[in-house]
Amino acid sequence: MNILLFGPPGAGKGTQSSRLVDELEYAHISTGDILRAAIKAQSPLGLEAKKQIDAGALVPDRVVSGLVRDAVSGLNGKKFILDGYPRTVGQAGELDKILEAANVSIGKAVFLDVDNSFLVNRLSGRRVCRSCGQSYHVESIPTKEEGVCDKCGGEVYQRSDDMAEAISKRLEVYAEQTSPLKSYYESAGKLVKLSGQGTVSEVFGRIKEVVS
Ligand code: AP5
Ligand code: MG
Repeated sequence: MNILLFGPPGAGKGTQSSRLVDELEYAHISTGDILRAAIKAQSPLGLEAKKQIDAGALVPDRVVSGLVRDAVSGLNGKKFILDGYPRTVGQAGELDKILEAANVSIGKAVFLDVDNSFLVNRLSGRRVCRSCGQSYHVESIPTKEEGVCDKCGGEVYQRSDDMAEAISKRLEVYAEQTSPLKSYYESAGKLVKLSGQGTVSEVFGRIKEVVS
């Protein structure tokens, strides 16, 4: 089943996607990861997106919808997770059109619910692998060797939008623009609300039950 994972910044979307890819052979479409790769490559898209990302603001709908259209068309029938898209009700409408044109559908829109009080700590302590994108946390999920990814040996760094000012902006933008997606997918009969609290394995177990 194709799924959409959504929830506030720091809810664990990337962490859980990585488990779904490794254990259940999902393809992972993350607009955040695509945009960060464009920034790294200093492409025109990356140069345009960097200012918005660093400020904790959203990249324009037309830009991200184009990226998702390309990613979906390259799937070749593989089941997929959408992580971080859609993020506005406008994007959700665009996604419906993209999926219809590609003749695929989303089975469930899984909302990962995490109390706000946990999110700031999760984001400010997050470290990410530059090569494979694996997320860690300095206190709760540290790498075995400091600064080195357990999975691929890549360099582990702190995202530029995981600074205090950008974190509070991202949480604000989420509450205003992304949170209304819960009603959108509830009306579509696709919403599944899961707790994103507990260990990574506990949360993964909950998601597995939904997708299997
Ligand atoms: P994006 O990269 O999508 O960021 P986000 O949605 O803010 O979400 P995060 O990646 O911060 O959190 P996550 O839920 O993946 O958490 P993670 O698993 O890493 O987008 C970045 C920016 O790109 C946006 O702000 C915007 O500018 C732009 N953008 C992207 N998509 C866009 C779109 N569609 N439209 C417009 N603009 C767009 O976990 C977080 C931390 O918690 C880690 O340290 C992890 O180790 C830890 N953790 C995870 N699970 C647990 C657990 N169970 N217990 C304890 N710790 C845990
Ligand atoms: Mg993420």
